[in-house]
Amino acid sequence: MTDLTTALEATGALAGVGGLGYAKVRAPRVYWSLVGLPVTWGRFTVTYGATMDVCGLTVQPSRLRAFMMRNVARREVQPVPPKVRRVKGTSTGLIVSLRIPAGLEPADVAAASERLRHAWGVHSVTVVETKPGVVELRMTGYDVLRQVRMPRRIKAGPMVVPVALREDGTPFLRDYCQVPHELTLGANFSGKSMYQRNLIKGLAKLPVGLIGIDCKRGVEQGSYAPRLSALATTPDEADRVLEVLVKEMEDRFDLLARHRVADLWSLPEDVRPVPLVVLVDEVAELFLVAVKKDEERRDRMVMQMVRLAQMARAVGIYLEVCGQRFGSELGRGATMLRAQLTGRVVHRVNDKQTAEMGLGDIAPDAVFAATVIAPDRPGVAVAGDTSGGWSRIRTPQVTADEVAGVCREFAHLVPDLPALAPFRPAVPAAPAPAAGPSLVKPRPVTK
Ligand SMILES: Nc1ncnc2c1ncn2[C@@H]1O[C@H](COP(=O)(O)OP(=O)(O)O)[C@@H](O)[C@H]1O
Ligand SMILES: [Mg+2]
Repeated sequence: MTDLTTALEATGALAGVGGLGYAKVRAPRVYWSLVGLPVTWGRFTVTYGATMDVCGLTVQPSRLRAFMMRNVARREVQPVPPKVRRVKGTSTGLIVSLRIPAGLEPADVAAASERLRHAWGVHSVTVVETKPGVVELRMTGYDVLRQVRMPRRIKAGPMVVPVALREDGTPFLRDYCQVPHELTLGANFSGKSMYQRNLIKGLAKLPVGLIGIDCKRGVEQGSYAPRLSALATTPDEADRVLEVLVKEMEDRFDLLARHRVADLWSLPEDVRPVPLVVLVDEVAELFLVAVKKDEERRDRMVMQMVRLAQMARAVGIYLEVCGQRFGSELGRGATMLRAQLTGRVVHRVNDKQTAEMGLGDIAPDAVFAATVIAPDRPGVAVAGDTSGGWSRIRTPQVTADEVAGVCREFAHLVPDLPALAPFRPAVPAAPAPAAGPSLVKPRPVTK
């Protein structure tokens, strides 16, 4: 009998361990909350002093403290680690705020992050200076980019859209007021369109006008038609749409001049035009020239985009450009256009040169990080930050249908823009519910 109970208990325990192992691989979030977080927190608390000491992150105590140690506590004077101000567990990791003592700088802590990561057995440690004298150690308990889940609560602003998750578990936000124009680079199949899809999903819910330029016959943006104010699917159409946009920009500047303000957001709310976001999928298709005659059109379009990029921020017109490459091969003025697109996101690239085009002016190590993105992880990218730093991000996977659904739901937000009306895409009918087999039995009419 006792043998049976022991056997049962052992099986139960084994099943428990097996379940945990399964959860660790399949549901890392759950595993982290149940097991990883308490274990890591305990490990951190117990080994903090010793770890900081061996990682070289301690300083000699102040004279007063040394005096007290020697004479009151009657202990040997030992170097002290940074003071822990706050420890917070999150669904992805652990955040520790440290007060940096005199004699250490945030770079010292950042330099030791690899050692700290191993000491506490966490997936990654990112060091961020939150204010002078205080740094945050953002640890993640598992690889959050393997299966991206966006945090539920995200601090949003008027023109802020969450698009991806950073490696440290915080959301990567696209803020159009801070960074008006952006360039997204990446090889074929690296996740650029997914990035734009996430953007559109967020933008669709905001009071903005969306203009799509997708010269791959609209295969990507066609399904977002209900929420688009204009969709150009050929370079010729795009040329005309850009012309309308430049005209719109000039009209808006007249409006600003009449109200004597310098910025769209300073206008009184009742006369303020809606912000417009222009999304270009595959800029190379747009600037493609087959015959000599097209070159003129291309150069005109590049110049129109340069004008928009240079001035349109003040009147709330923003550019979001995607491409496989963005070099001088795109025509006269292309490099000038690139210089105006301040936001940079680089997905996996085929050559270092492309990564340099996107990130070279941000940091050399960002260029390197972009060149080593694994091909089996589409959607991973290196994004430049407004602060001059960079981070590794990944977009959550959403289906085109899901975003098309959001676009239909918020179709009432499409602003009234008469100038763009001719380019408003035809809205495909909502998918009709599939006709199932009839439940009514046919009855012969003859009697
Ligand atoms: N964040 C992601 N997570 C998982 N799969 C992704 C992600 N981003 C893209 N993919 C997949 O990678 C493939 C290529 O993505 P896509 O956005 O069309 O690339 P691109 O536009 O750069 O050619 C698609 O099959 C897509 O489902
Ligand atoms: Mg694409």
